Amino acid sequence: MQINILAIESSCDDTAAAIIQDGVVLSNITAGQEAHDQYGGVVPELASRAHQAHIIPVVDLAFKKAGLSPADIHAVAFTRGPGLIGSLLVGASFAKGFALSHNLPLIEVDHMQAHVLAHFAEDPKPKFPFLCLTVSGGHTQIVLVRDYLDMEVLGTTLDDAAGEAFDKSGKLLGLGYPAGPRIDRLATNGSPRFPMPLPEIPGLDFSFSGFKTSILYFLKRELQANPNFIEENLSDICASVQHGIIQILIKKIKKAARQHHIQEVALAGGVSANSGLRAAFESLGAQEGWNTYVPAFQYCTDNAGMIGVTAYYKYIKGIFTTQDVGLYAR
Ligand code: KG4
Ligand code: ZN
Repeated sequence: MQINILAIESSCDDTAAAIIQDGVVLSNITAGQEAHDQYGGVVPELASRAHQAHIIPVVDLAFKKAGLSPADIHAVAFTRGPGLIGSLLVGASFAKGFALSHNLPLIEVDHMQAHVLAHFAEDPKPKFPFLCLTVSGGHTQIVLVRDYLDMEVLGTTLDDAAGEAFDKSGKLLGLGYPAGPRIDRLATNGSPRFPMPLPEIPGLDFSFSGFKTSILYFLKRELQANPNFIEENLSDICASVQHGIIQILIKKIKKAARQHHIQEVALAGGVSANSGLRAAFESLGAQEGWNTYVPAFQYCTDNAGMIGVTAYYKYIKGIFTTQDVGLYAR
């Protein structure tokens, strides 16, 4: 029998639904939210209201694209956390209501685990054990993946996430939210000629708050001398910010792979869409003799396909949850 899963993701500012058949993504629909752009970051109250407006059309479209109807579904999956509580509540409540009304089992999914398992949505798939550098707007982790549902976090950020470093630097440059993709685009025409100080953090952990503060002081200093400094050097500043963040990330994943003698190495999360990071990761992989894995763009940033793929591995192991399960915020 084929197993069809309806998956819902609503942890931050993307409302997403997907239909997964035997671990294969049939449809993967995401509605973004432009309301946050003018504020330079996600406004939680606006996010949950937008989720409420988007959730039903997004689910309808996921069914339409998959060519299936609710009667074909065997289980409903949703993101349990980490995320913004008001945002998570919309997806979880929808999933619980759908499961109740169609008498279906529920599967709860950890958002960070799903970013890692996004690699199993398409070929080529990494072989176990592998290392995954998961870089998103809320988290930065190096994960040792022994099996689909057996993961250990080896290193994490002590303060801001890599995506936040992109977004907060972009806010200082007046780039709006999310600034990561805009910095990426601008950096392609620039040169990293402004060296950024890199933190020395022991072990496999990361820190980005000092990096952000040094950009703030750098800009203040330069703007005093030249009030048009940002406009005149925007591409080079973006290239320098991006280069600094990439150096921090690349150094730690190299250290982790050497320490653990692992040559299967993957990149995941929204920041893995960054063209400079992808290129640096591939070139490091070639130097170190790794097999490298980077998901297609649609599986890098938040999406419900990755929630459904994770839910499928839970389904075949018989791991379900109950209607009264709680959510976990960031
Ligand atoms: O995984 P994700 O969609 O959501 C979270 O779970 O947080 O990641 C969103 C983050 C944002 O910080 C965004 O600026 C960043 O991913 N991002 C990028 C790029 N595309 C998205 N950062 C740098 N370059 C990109 N091309
Ligand atoms: Zn995410």
